[in-house]
Amino acid sequence: MQSNWTHHCSPRHLFTSPISAASTKAKSKRRAIHTGRASNTNIITMSKYFPKFKETLPNVDGKVFVITGTTSGTGFVAAQTVAEKGGEVVMLNRKSQRVTDAHAKLVVAVPAGKFVNVECDLQDFASVKKAAEEVKSKYKKIHCLSNNAGIMMTPDKATTDGCDTQMQTNHLSHFILTKELMPLLEAEAAESGDARIVHHSSMARDGTKKWS
Ligand SMILES: NC(=O)c1ccc[n+]([C@@H]2O[C@H](COP(=O)([O-])OP(=O)(O)OC[C@H]3O[C@@H](n4cnc5c(N)ncnc54)[C@H](OP(=O)(O)O)[C@@H]3O)[C@@H](O)[C@H]2O)c1
Repeated sequence: MQSNWTHHCSPRHLFTSPISAASTKAKSKRRAIHTGRASNTNIITMSKYFPKFKETLPNVDGKVFVITGTTSGTGFVAAQTVAEKGGEVVMLNRKSQRVTDAHAKLVVAVPAGKFVNVECDLQDFASVKKAAEEVKSKYKKIHCLSNNAGIMMTPDKATTDGCDTQMQTNHLSHFILTKELMPLLEAEAAESGDARIVHHSSMARDGTKKWS
């Protein structure tokens, strides 16, 4: 099983090994897809590289992909792309009109797609655990967990669980999700030899002070 940390806003790691895909050409395409915070759904899909890039992704018929934060950005694009490639998409989102709107758009974009909504507020550990239970009750194995949702530069305040809002949303809740869903990933890996966890990070990490 693979666990990938990616600071690239690309759905590549959901499908293919970053090692096998790490050609220079692939890297330059990936850079083109990553276009900064403003690179939300439209800019990614409107990139002149995206349609060709998508053709290089394999079919994932019948495989289950759990993705957090699919209302916009890379999560939305990943959900659409997975569905287009035949995968079943389990979308973990906090409750909002954006979820309904994004789901409606996905169904129009991929009429034959399989989309399942699971409520999950990453700022609430109880909600995350409940979401994991729901996934476990529905599936015995999953091919991919994409810890995609994230926020940044939020006001300095704590969640009801007493943690920093950004830390809990981006990391702590995803750690719980990963732990809870690990048996399903292991089941898939045991059967097909391939399961993966994709954690989203940021190129900003390159700017941190290096302690030697
Ligand atoms: N775009 C960039 O340039 C960039 C750069 C570095 C790193 N990243 C990382 O890449 C990932 C995707 O970025 P993006 O630009 O595609 O982001 P985006 O368009 O802002 O989408 C973020 C997603 O996370 C969801 N989310 C936020 N808080 C949540 C919560 N408490 N519970 C559940 N879902 C929540 C949002 O849902 P709501 O609709 O509910 O808000 C939305 O679906 C993030 O992890 C981000 O930190 C992005």
